Amino acid sequence: MPCYHLRMHNKSLAIAPADIQRAVEQFKTPFHLYDEAGIRNAIRRLNAAFGWAPDFRNYFAVKATPTPEILKLVVSEGCGLDCSSFTELLLAARMQLRGDQIMFTSNNTPLDEYRFALKLDARINFDDIGHLDWLEEQDVALPPLVSFRYNPGADREGNTIIGRPAEAKFGATRAQLHHGYAAAQRRGITRFGLHTMIASNERNADYFVTTADMLFALAAELHQLLGIEFEYINLGGGIGIPYRPEEEAVDIERIGAGVQRAYAEHILASGMRPPRIVLECGRVITGPYGMLVTRVRHAKSTYRNYIGVDASMADLMRPGIYGAYHHITVLGAQPQPTDGSYDVVGSLCENNDKFAVNRQLPAANTGDVLVIHDTGAHGRAMGFNYNGKLRCGEVLRRTDGKLQLIRRAETVDDLFATFVESDSEA
Ligand SMILES: Cc1ncc(COP(=O)(O)O)c(C=O)c1O
Repeated sequence: MPCYHLRMHNKSLAIAPADIQRAVEQFKTPFHLYDEAGIRNAIRRLNAAFGWAPDFRNYFAVKATPTPEILKLVVSEGCGLDCSSFTELLLAARMQLRGDQIMFTSNNTPLDEYRFALKLDARINFDDIGHLDWLEEQDVALPPLVSFRYNPGADREGNTIIGRPAEAKFGATRAQLHHGYAAAQRRGITRFGLHTMIASNERNADYFVTTADMLFALAAELHQLLGIEFEYINLGGGIGIPYRPEEEAVDIERIGAGVQRAYAEHILASGMRPPRIVLECGRVITGPYGMLVTRVRHAKSTYRNYIGVDASMADLMRPGIYGAYHHITVLGAQPQPTDGSYDVVGSLCENNDKFAVNRQLPAANTGDVLVIHDTGAHGRAMGFNYNGKLRCGEVLRRTDGKLQLIRRAETVDDLFATFVESDSEA
């Protein structure tokens, strides 16, 4: 994988500066720019690390980058899609995906979403065991395969973004799972899955191995108690990426090997039929291979130095809502030392509309191009329209170098299309 360094900045760019420059000449900033080759390689690496697992598949978390061309790309590499809402299911359905090509991992789920997931024969990970009763009360037939999401509560620490499991709204307790699977069996269900997701942007490979140990031991326990055979065990997503220059990339191979050891120890040793292992990773697949390309609009100095850009929190919320770090490179030909400390800001009337706070950067002037790294997952997707801001478009750098617009920027008409106005004058 090529790495490109610019101006004393020590974090590499996933796309060559010349290609970013080409994109800037072709498309109006701001836009997210993705790299097809990087995304394909990330999937291949994950698949290779889990090559030992029977019928392994990563279900790409649609919420990370819900753009059809990106979804087509990941599906062409063998991924399924992990959906969490009606419209995400609709995106999968538009691609003619059905059955075990779709995971539906939702919470506080509306009836119409269940109905649609059932229509698509998607694999449903129930967040609440009570939803089996509820569906029946609504005259909705249960799916032939039932899977529950486990929340280990105080048994696990969790991590910053997803929170401590004991405080997280997701999933069911161990005792509830015992009841839930038994209740499903009483209804004649014979096909089962098991799911958990208790970390987000976690870079410690061993954390995932411990999760596998935990979940596989639970599967073995349920097998022993209830005679359940699991068709799949879903370890969720959450594999992290190095947003900061000093951070190491996650050792995917170490995760694969550790999960393999846990599988042998708990699953194979239990005598149960070997289930598929599946994941729902989004971030590690597209995160590092996307970037937000934006231009400096104004610079000003008051109590701090500000670089105002033409993107805003509407295009990338992670820094604003989590204080998340995204590296920033000032695009330029010459190496240049850091000139000072800057806040890089958008134009929203919110003071957390900042891509960087007190960041050491080269001086940037009106018209300069800034590249905000690692926006390929949970980037544009989280955007919103506060202050009437229109979210930016998306461009994909194809493996042959061609730049393809895969989502146009929003227009005023898009924004105003939802208004319902009375005919009469006020
Ligand atoms: C249920 C579920 N699965 C998968 C993911 C994807 O996580 P990531 O993109 O960090 O791998 C998320 C992220 O929020 C999630 O909530």
